[in-house]
Amino acid sequence: MSNETKSTKLPTTNAKLIAWVDEVSALCKPEQVVWCDGSKAEYDRLCDLMVEGGTFIRLNPEKRPNSYLARSHPSDVGRVEDRTFICSINKEDAGPTNNWAAPAEMRATLNGLFDGCMRGRTMYVIPFSMGPLGSPIAKIGIEITDSPYVVVNMGIMTRMGHAVLDVLGSDGFFIPCVHSVGAPLAPGQKDVPWPCEADISRKYIVHFPETYEIWSYGSGYGGNALLGKKCLALRIASVMARDEGWLAEHMLIMGLESAQGEKTYLAAAFPSACGKTNLAMLVPPKGFEGWKVTTVGDDIAWIKKAPDGRLRAINPEAGFFGVAPGTNMSSNPNAMLTIQKNCIVTNAALTDDGDVWWEGMDGAPPAHAIDWKGEDWTPGCGRVAAHANARFTAPASQCPSIDAEWENPEGVPISAFIFGGRMSKDMPLVFQAFNWSHGVYLAATMGSEATAAAIGQAAMRRDPMAMLPFCGYNMADYFSHWLNVGRQVPNPPRIFRVNWFRKSDDGKFLWPGFGENMRVLKWIVDRVHGRGFGIESPMGWMPRHEDIEWKGLDYPSDTFYNLMSVSRKAGTSEAHAHEEQFDMFFDRLPKEFIFERELLRSRLWRSPEKWELAHEAH
Ligand code: OXD
Ligand code: MN
Repeated sequence: MSNETKSTKLPTTNAKLIAWVDEVSALCKPEQVVWCDGSKAEYDRLCDLMVEGGTFIRLNPEKRPNSYLARSHPSDVGRVEDRTFICSINKEDAGPTNNWAAPAEMRATLNGLFDGCMRGRTMYVIPFSMGPLGSPIAKIGIEITDSPYVVVNMGIMTRMGHAVLDVLGSDGFFIPCVHSVGAPLAPGQKDVPWPCEADISRKYIVHFPETYEIWSYGSGYGGNALLGKKCLALRIASVMARDEGWLAEHMLIMGLESAQGEKTYLAAAFPSACGKTNLAMLVPPKGFEGWKVTTVGDDIAWIKKAPDGRLRAINPEAGFFGVAPGTNMSSNPNAMLTIQKNCIVTNAALTDDGDVWWEGMDGAPPAHAIDWKGEDWTPGCGRVAAHANARFTAPASQCPSIDAEWENPEGVPISAFIFGGRMSKDMPLVFQAFNWSHGVYLAATMGSEATAAAIGQAAMRRDPMAMLPFCGYNMADYFSHWLNVGRQVPNPPRIFRVNWFRKSDDGKFLWPGFGENMRVLKWIVDRVHGRGFGIESPMGWMPRHEDIEWKGLDYPSDTFYNLMSVSRKAGTSEAHAHEEQFDMFFDRLPKEFIFERELLRSRLWRSPEKWELAHEAH
């Protein structure tokens, strides 16, 4: 333990916490230990330190006040799913979709890696709350890290600092999270701007579900290093949620208020980089004058049954860690306004006037920029300027569409769950599940085409509830848990599938997406309140052309029916693929899923080769 820790008065009396920090410090052997207080002065000091060391570039304060650009090591640009481990005592409890390692062996490996890993560095202790401080749904974590980049990002993404220790008190429970970039410094060795372990096989993102513990080594990338986010708020929280009877989900939460003032909250799950942030901050299109869309969260929802029997959700985060490329004033004006100041941008390009730029930003590309790798870039050079997974970190409170209730410790009442993948064919724009168990089945069989948020992902993969990389236990048990939650709520939220990404045979998107998605959301709201019409299709309830509000958009009904059509052949092979998907869960698979699949097959059995709403509706 460093002298500094001994001589300074500690900001907590929590004996467990003090002992744990001492233990980690003795293992990692940092030069000094600093307890983060979460103040603005601390934030500014660390940013200055990183500007000095070359980790941060201060952006032009006239263009983007109090904002910074960071460039990662080129190998450290996304989550590393094959280096992410769930170390439950029994392999079956991690399930076939997680990387498992025996806890004792993994602890031995980690002990070796963490021994002396912070030499020459400062070890920061970050107390943070996932969820509004003191909320009955919130949880406290303590992250230990040797990365000031992590400290300042956690400062935006969570409620962080001394106030958390006050809530923790002398014997409160916390989730211990240890992170190191894995780059100890020899005496006199100069640091690099983005230290990390460049050898991917030596990166470890490790979760011990039985002891609710997280250890992350070798990466500085957000999803691997800001341990409150994916590691705690999803992987460990999903286990806690199973143990305690609630849900921790990869979902945005949004509010929709009609011109008459009727407010409905929805939670929606999409795989990484499928537009959750855009949907959460949607601006109603032409024809929806008087409607308001508000944002509670863009990535994670913690959902619990409230005393009134409804499911209520909080956003455990306090900031957005959004995908930058493609974000612009028409795709997501609220995000652009959120990041006007006080933000951190990672792996975008630097313009000659000291601002950031990424592919898809408004206006013409700059004539010259420095790309995300620090090299000269011009529009015709054949390379992208920003990495496809470049990210912005910004406070949620700066978002113009932030919901008035976003910090309500009790959460907001959820009326519908939406599940959507990125599917270029065979998956209709929208349909509603017949009931809760059918909805859970639809969510569990969701497929999506690859994105850049994770390194080395297959072209199309099944991503149940968009939780494949984030469920901290056996997914079959997770499906059963979902079925159970629905049974315990008297009037459970309705469940919908959507797909904004269907393409025509010549490769063009059939649906305009973005703000126009509001038209689909309105049908969902109508259904939730028992107003909207739906036709029974083999997949679920579907809107006819006339059930959607088209004011302000000229969208031909035959294109709509094309977008909604179901091919019997594709539907049937989809049902077969579900069997293959579920085979791996074998004895733990909920029996409801076997019946749901058979029902799907029977609905498709004698349906026309191309099942079209147009035939049924008229
Ligand atoms: C994210 C992700 O960063 O899902 O939100 O990868
Ligand atoms: Mn996400």
